[in-house]
Formats: sequence, C-alpha cells, structure tokens
Amino acid sequence: MPKTYTPQQLRQRLDRLPRLQLAALPTPLDDLPRFSSAVGGPRILMKREDLTGLAMGGNKIREFEYSIAPAVESGCDVLIHGAAAQSNQSRTTAAVAARLGMKAVQVGRADEHAQIQGNLLLTHLFGAEVHLPPPEQQSATMQQTLDRLRTAGHKPYNTSSDGAAYRGIAYVDGFLELWSQLQERGIEPDVVYLASGAHTHTGMVVAARALGLPLRFVGISPSPRDDEVAAQNMTQLAAEHCRILDLDLEITPADLESYAEFVGPGYGVVTDGSREALQLLARSEGLLLDPCYTGKAMAGLIAHVRAGWWTAEQTAVFVHTGGTPALFAYADELGLELPEAKT
Ligand SMILES: Cc1ncc(COP(=O)(O)O)c(C=O)c1O
Repeated sequence: MPKTYTPQQLRQRLDRLPRLQLAALPTPLDDLPRFSSAVGGPRILMKREDLTGLAMGGNKIREFEYSIAPAVESGCDVLIHGAAAQSNQSRTTAAVAARLGMKAVQVGRADEHAQIQGNLLLTHLFGAEVHLPPPEQQSATMQQTLDRLRTAGHKPYNTSSDGAAYRGIAYVDGFLELWSQLQERGIEPDVVYLASGAHTHTGMVVAARALGLPLRFVGISPSPRDDEVAAQNMTQLAAEHCRILDLDLEITPADLESYAEFVGPGYGVVTDGSREALQLLARSEGLLLDPCYTGKAMAGLIAHVRAGWWTAEQTAVFVHTGGTPALFAYADELGLELPEAKT
C-alpha cells in the first residue's frame, strides 16, 4: 500500500522550508456555468492562479515564494531570467526583484513578439535591464551576462534553473489550498486540467497522491516536445519534490498524463482551438485566457469534452496559470482590427 499523509502532515513539511510572502492567497475558485454550457460539457470550476496579485499575477508569483526564498537567504542580489520576448516569467521575475530591492535582468530573444507591449512593456516598467539578442545568440548572451554580473561582484539567481524543484513545491501547497476549497463546498472533481510546463503539474500531482487521492490530472503542453523525455523529466521533478518534503511516494509517468497535440505549429503560436477557447471564455464569462499556455490548455479541455471524455454529470477543475498580459502583443493572431473609420 502506498503511504498517505494528512493535509496537516503535508503542511508541517512545507512549513519547514524558507518562504517569501508575495502572492494574494488563497486565490478564488470560480464556477463557470455559462462557459460549461457553451462547451456542452461537465461542470467547470476555475482555480484563479491568474489572480495571485503582484504584477498581474500568474502561477510564477506563487512559485517564487518558495523558489526565490533560498536565494534571498544566501545573499543573491540579482534575479535573471531568459525565455521568449513575451515571457510571463521575465515579467514576474522583474516585479519580484523590484519588490525585494534586487536588480532584475531579462535575457530574452528578438522573436516575432518582441514589441513594447504586454509582458515586455511591464518588464521594462519594473526596471529590468533587458537584452533581446537574436534567438541563436540567446544562450551565449545569457552566459556573458552572468559572467559580467559576477565579475562586477553580483550574485545572480536564474529564476528558471535555480531552485526549479521549489517551484513545484509551491504547487504542493497550491493543491492543499484547492483541495480545502473543494472540500468546503462539498465538490468532488473528476479531473484537473492545466497548462503543463512542468512545475504546477508535478507539484499538484505529488500533493494529491500524498493525500491518497486517485484524482486524474490532464496536462496540456504549451511546447512541442519528445513525450518520452518530457515524461522522464517530470517524473524526476516529482521525485525531487518527494525528496525535499520527505514523502515516501513513487510518482510514475502514468500519474503525469500530458498531451502536446494542442500546441499547433509552435510555442506561442495561436491555433484555431486556442483562439476559440479565448473567445468562448471571454464572451461567456468575461474572463481572459492567455495565448501561449491557458488558451491551449482550454482548447485541450474543449476538444476532450467534444470527444466524449467528460459528460454533464462530471466536474472538471481548470487551473488558470495566468499569462494574460501577453494578450496585448497578440492582436494580429487573435484577429482583432480597428473598425473602419466612418467618414
Ligand atoms: C501562464 C503560464 N502557465 C503555465 C506555465 C508553466 O509553468 P510551470 O512549468 O512552472 O508550471 C507558465 C510558465 O512557463 C506560464 O507563464
């Protein structure tokens, strides 16, 4: 029999770890009745991780409470991050650096969304030093920037790679919060959907299995990938969460169900499915998704409902991991134009 733990036992283990206070918690758990009926499917509840507060929110704000705390303790003075030009993590890295009185650096790339809009606009506003080299020079520029910072006596912390396992630990905590909200309302979900970069997914699955819940999680990847390699990496990450929290659990690839078929042509490219998901949620509930992560995750949920995976008698929780500021850099792909001026 696998070992199970009570929520209190998990909480005690989490409480031993260093933690910052950055997010406005608990985030709401909203019912989406008009969206559910528009999709023709199960009851859909949305865990509003887009409302974590700081810097227009998102899952990174919760993750950074655990992942940046050790950096602060060890005297790091620069938070650095590099990904796409419209990276949510670069935006939240810059905001958290400002909040903590640290220097922020973004080493992004000059991709097709490199415009002073959305996340990139906010990253500037939070005072980050921003570099946008051609994509093929991004990793060399990151290395040069790190070298330059160290030579100048700084102690940089890369919010992507450093302490990555603690980002998932934050979602062990996030799942405890979600589970207590569901229990208070007497709701037993059949499935949890989420954009599966990795950490939110692995953290939630570890928490659910630690509590002995057979709850199904369906992750939707925002990026093309090798499924086997991704499954291996996520299983290792989950094992690392268990090690940090001293949990006697084995998480297998079967626990970490995840699909990459809703990505379309590439990371950050709007698909017909994600455009439909964005419009349907906006027009039925007045709520926003983002073009890179949650739009695709919701496209996956809609496709699965249409394929008969979930019926009206069932309940799905969708974890909204944020990212909505990127919308403002996606007007073309979302098919939005000014109406013609009348003369
Ligand atoms: C909006 C959004 N959703 C999901 C993810 C995936 O995050 P993680 O891998 O930390 O769970 C990210 C970041 O990469 C994101 O910005």
